[in-house]
Amino acid sequence: MSQERDPELEAYRNRALEELSRVGSEQLLEEWYRRHLSPSGSLVGWRRSIGKAPPERRKEVGRAINEVADELNRAFAARREVVELQAIEERLRQSGVDVTLPARAQAQGGLHPSTQALREIQSVFALLGFVPFESPHVELDDYNFGLLNMAPDHPARDMQDTFYVSKDVLMRTHTSSGQVRALQKYCPAPVRIILPGLCYRHENITTRSEIQFHQVEGLLVGPDVRMSDLKGVLLFFVRQMFGENQAIRLRGSYFPFTEPSVEIDIRCTLCAGDGCRVCKQTGWLELLGAGLVHPRVLANGGYDPKVHRGIAFGLGVERLLMLRHGIRDIRLFFENDLRFLEQFA
Ligand code: FA5
Repeated sequence: MSQERDPELEAYRNRALEELSRVGSEQLLEEWYRRHLSPSGSLVGWRRSIGKAPPERRKEVGRAINEVADELNRAFAARREVVELQAIEERLRQSGVDVTLPARAQAQGGLHPSTQALREIQSVFALLGFVPFESPHVELDDYNFGLLNMAPDHPARDMQDTFYVSKDVLMRTHTSSGQVRALQKYCPAPVRIILPGLCYRHENITTRSEIQFHQVEGLLVGPDVRMSDLKGVLLFFVRQMFGENQAIRLRGSYFPFTEPSVEIDIRCTLCAGDGCRVCKQTGWLELLGAGLVHPRVLANGGYDPKVHRGIAFGLGVERLLMLRHGIRDIRLFFENDLRFLEQFA
């Protein structure tokens, strides 16, 4: 503070600061500002008085007024903070919000268990050199049935109840619909693809069956491919997914697009083979369908069945998860109940 500060200016400063210290609301704060710091406030009057001072003192008078102005501005800013905080606290008190309560935890998103499994399955087959292949969900009847050795009147069509979009267009009932598409794309090179995705069937919804579910198809075609490759590939897969000690069983079956056809079972994950209610006392659980690619399918894809042979398999992703986690009802996967989904986050 300047030694020779005008006592009147000093008194004004003290009065203004003292008034400010009693300001307790945003409205009073505004009034104080208008009275002192605004363009119509007292400080402007003080500034005008500089001109009335003798020329040799003007500089000093001006500096003293500037010091007071700075001080009032700083005090105003500090007071405003206090008043605003008080106002917020008052508003919160009136609204009944208790800001001391802990905040609600932010819900974190996560991948759907089926998506996680699709990725995991793909990464296991990637270890064996299988590359992903995509094919349409809305598909031509030919790719879903005809080219897979199921003529229009073939009885095996009844095995898969179908949602038709028009006479020749349908929602694919299995990922096998991508087999001939892949063959046609890669022919005449060897094929080693994995084809994951949703399938659709016009079925009764039960604890084991949904009208939409995920499958993963595998297709391997080359000059020396044989049944033992199928067994080796699937045993590797099963042990990656269910543990090193898992065993598989090949059981004769029928699919029009494979010959011979098999179903692959794994040892019951609940009773480890002793026999229980879930495995119907057999000790085995059905996992997927597979076989050697039918010569007609190879030919439809452009390959000479005398030179090339192939293995193919198709597994249901939700059924696999049910076996792995002991889930009793497939509908849980499609109901979007967070209590179920969060267990996989
Ligand atoms: C097929 O779909 C054949 N395309 C599998 C195949 C591929 C055989 C390649 C040979 C060579 P299937 O209809 O059995 O076969 O279905 C295969 C798997 O899909 C079943 O084991 C089951 O896990 C799953 N699946 C079938 N229907 C449903 C359904 N409605 N709900 C849930 N999962 C299903």
